[in-house]
Amino acid sequence: MEKIKKPYYVDFSVTPFCNLSCPFCSAGAANKIVKNNEKIFSLEMIKDLFNQFDENEILRVSLEGGEPFCRNDIIEIMHLADTHNFMYYVNTNATLITEDLAKEISKTNVEKLCISIDGPEDIHDRSRGRKGSFKKMNEAVKYLKKYNVPIDGIITLTKINKDYLTETFDVISSMGINNVAIMLLASVGNACKNISDVSIDYNDWKKIYLKMTDMKKENLLPLSVNIVPTGEAIKPWMLYLPLKEEKRESDIELWLNQSLKSTIKDDLFACTAGKDNFAIDGYGNVFGCSLMYTENELIAGNVYEQKISDIWSNSPVFKKFRTLKYTEVTGKCRDCEYLSVCKGGCRVCAYAATRNLCGSDERCPICMKEL
Ligand SMILES: C[S@@+](CC[C@H](N)C(=O)[O-])C[C@H]1O[C@@H](n2cnc3c(N)ncnc32)[C@H](O)[C@@H]1O
Ligand code: SF4
Ligand code: SF4
Ligand code: SF4
Repeated sequence: MEKIKKPYYVDFSVTPFCNLSCPFCSAGAANKIVKNNEKIFSLEMIKDLFNQFDENEILRVSLEGGEPFCRNDIIEIMHLADTHNFMYYVNTNATLITEDLAKEISKTNVEKLCISIDGPEDIHDRSRGRKGSFKKMNEAVKYLKKYNVPIDGIITLTKINKDYLTETFDVISSMGINNVAIMLLASVGNACKNISDVSIDYNDWKKIYLKMTDMKKENLLPLSVNIVPTGEAIKPWMLYLPLKEEKRESDIELWLNQSLKSTIKDDLFACTAGKDNFAIDGYGNVFGCSLMYTENELIAGNVYEQKISDIWSNSPVFKKFRTLKYTEVTGKCRDCEYLSVCKGGCRVCAYAATRNLCGSDERCPICMKEL
């Protein structure tokens, strides 16, 4: 029997709750706020989970949510993480980070804070579903900079901010942030519910992407930009198709990085869920990745009931993820000439749209075409 390789990284939601209300939230976290801590992991439980992360030789942990800073003991959690073997970073909307908190964060060993910054003030506030979000986030960035906390920016690209990308780069760069990741929308959670309000038309994406590619080629981007497609193929359709259509495929090299060169075997879907990584939602449910949080059928287990190693080795959901072959894809992807390089896009986006783990990723323009 083939030995199951250990997971490399974990997305760990320290709370399911959030103070903001983003119409695209993959975690479906919007508007879920509680006044007490009764529904969230105790510090004792987090201690146990961190011990299990070490036992499973996890290399990297992302602390996220919901909004991690909704917890008033997040600094304690970070100091606890400092005593373990894994590296960790924190994904945050930064609106709750005061000067005192920034000072406390600087005393931890966090690798970096990844802060969501979706646009200039009005656009960011619309994207985040709350007026005043930009001001608070901007203040937090100033405090974090004052105390030398490393920060990367994250832009979640939607219909709301698609026309403001260059301004957004300038805003982020003027805050003294040098690296930004552009998250391409996953059609899951709130984004699936509000799809027509948030998703970008392929032709709009193509224009934005080609412009960024030209700027990158000519060193005109004011900061280092990384595009994060949802799907781990070596040539995901979002990066490959627009260039292929313009007969400039070689430009894809500008965007590929090591993290996209997946370790997945050749005949499997290019999805790392349950193969390289897993995620724990704020209620202890274990999934293949954090974009699955609103899909109850994809729960692989729960950390209140089972050890992580047991879930990782024995969950039928994870066993299934490890055997799904892209040649078994159904729908439009099946006849697509790019299938062997694209490998069908993102599994949970396909599942959210088709209720089939082998379905087609319907965000792709080829999947949208009528037969
Ligand atoms: C789930 S949030 C959690 C951390 C924190 N609350 C925040 O918003 O930064 C992590 C990142 O995922 C992004 N995100 C949320 N929903 C998404 C979706 N449907 N597709 C792609 N990225 C998404 C967020 O904008 C944020 O940058
Ligand atoms: S994306 Fe982040 S800030 Fe927005 S609702 Fe979800 S958890 Fe909250
Ligand atoms: S479902 Fe798979 S392909 Fe989609 S984001 Fe998660 S790990 Fe990646
Ligand atoms: S149709 Fe499917 S395989 Fe072809 S490019 Fe689109 S997502 Fe990839």
